[in-house]
Amino acid sequence: MLNKVVVAGGGVLGTQIGLMCAYTGHDVTFWLRSESSIGRTQPKIDRYSALMLEDLAKAKALIGNPMGAFVYPRGMIKNWEGITAEAIDDLLAQGKKNLAEKVHIELDMAKALEDADIVIESMSEDPQAKIAVYEAMRDKLADKTILVTNSSTLLPSTFAEHTGRPAKYCALHFANTIWKNNTAEVMGHPGTDPAVYDQVVAFAADINMVPLQLHKEQPGYILNSMLVPFLSAAQALWANEVADPETIDLTWKLATSAPAGPFQILDIVGLETAYNINQMKPDAGEEGSLTNRIGKLLKEKIDKGETGVNAGKGFYDYRK
Ligand SMILES: NC(=O)c1ccc[n+]([C@@H]2O[C@H](COP(=O)([O-])OP(=O)(O)OC[C@H]3O[C@@H](n4cnc5c(N)ncnc54)[C@H](O)[C@@H]3O)[C@@H](O)[C@H]2O)c1
Repeated sequence: MLNKVVVAGGGVLGTQIGLMCAYTGHDVTFWLRSESSIGRTQPKIDRYSALMLEDLAKAKALIGNPMGAFVYPRGMIKNWEGITAEAIDDLLAQGKKNLAEKVHIELDMAKALEDADIVIESMSEDPQAKIAVYEAMRDKLADKTILVTNSSTLLPSTFAEHTGRPAKYCALHFANTIWKNNTAEVMGHPGTDPAVYDQVVAFAADINMVPLQLHKEQPGYILNSMLVPFLSAAQALWANEVADPETIDLTWKLATSAPAGPFQILDIVGLETAYNINQMKPDAGEEGSLTNRIGKLLKEKIDKGETGVNAGKGFYDYRK
């Protein structure tokens, strides 16, 4: 079992991943690069720990509700079937204890990495910074240590040689709010040792994720390979004035029984992220192109502060 976990990067996702590992009983060390990083990460640790436990406590009210099985925090409760309020109280007590006792922060890279079973790199999406950190880690890692990246857009083959341990390196990709949306996409590169890949799959299950195995490298993994084109198609209908966002969402929800439509999903993802993805398309700067018009419409909303659920308003108003 991979027990000693190091998370490199204490941002939104790194913090959530580390806490999920601690909640499930693993020993977790966040390696951060400076004192000022601690000042930014500690409040996230506190905030996400509280949110995780809050969602777990709220799940008691879902027992017996037929919708409970769809909306309970899947990362916090491994088996929903037959769950009782007493069992949730036990999870709350153990979870609170684990989150308080099993999380450490270390600035010294060598100390952080010592004897690690698995290192999860979740730093900003900056290839040069990732390469520099992998190269700095190379001679500090124990032979047994497995290294994974949570990168959303960069392929593990880009970095494999820089890690100095290509056979023990692959991608393990999580989704935001992992204690509820517990996907773990596992993606090797051609040089990943299949036995290491299997260990990463087992580790993902061990931290209450559902491991989703990719058989080859794919930019965007499984989820974003479907989600990005889906959201783009919805934005095209909007920008071409075919229908308004509410009607587009309603069509999707009525016809597929999905709980949310594409514009509700965009509000959760955040309009800045949607804008950044749109602007990466080659024709984004081409005046009058569909991509250019979508970019302008999104920018108008961003400039008004309507960036999604977190801001209280996006395509929908959440302040009521
Ligand atoms: N945000 C998401 O929804 C999401 C979902 C899945 C995967 N990811 C991936 O997770 C990774 C992190 O994303 P995030 O949203 O948590 O970003 P973030 O901006 O919230 O956090 C990035 C962290 O990296 C640290 N960092 C940056 N450069 C560093 C360096 N040179 N040395 C050490 N630390 C450094 C920052 O201090 C910060 O703690 C990215 O690879 C991203 O693609 C993000």
